[in-house]
Amino acid sequence: MDKVKKAKRYQRIVSQLEELIQKTTNPLARMSTIVAILHHKFDYYFWTGFYRLVGGELTVCCYQGSVACLVLEKQKGVCWTAIDDKKTLVIPDVKKFPGHMACDSRSTSEIVIPIWKDNKIVAVMDVDSKELDSFDEIDVEYLEKIVKLIY
Ligand code: SME
Repeated sequence: MDKVKKAKRYQRIVSQLEELIQKTTNPLARMSTIVAILHHKFDYYFWTGFYRLVGGELTVCCYQGSVACLVLEKQKGVCWTAIDDKKTLVIPDVKKFPGHMACDSRSTSEIVIPIWKDNKIVAVMDVDSKELDSFDEIDVEYLEKIVKLIY
């Protein structure tokens, strides 16, 4: 996708979300709304959702796309690595990522963004694409901005 077009689309989404999230402080309502909007705005978004870190387990929360792994095996895969590294991970080809957990074998590239609350990571946002190398610095910039709207 053309980078200028992508950035402009994200800018419109951020404005829309900033207005929508004011209706409640409930993080689950905000996460659900973020997923509902993002999932349909970009053709390469194949799976869009959140995993919450509760009681030491990463459990799926609101999402759109095919049925996900409900709980992610500990210390394995992209989501846990993003938490351990405390940073956004962009994986151009999941088959080359050691320990990648494929909930749907059609997922080919992936981005995972940690979500912070009171200096702790409490969840991650995860987006999968069926194409290789779908996510770039523009997705990182705007998704990091979007997840800050939750708490
Ligand atoms: N691929 C992720 C698991 C979650 S799914 O992509 C929905 C991982 O390796 O942590």
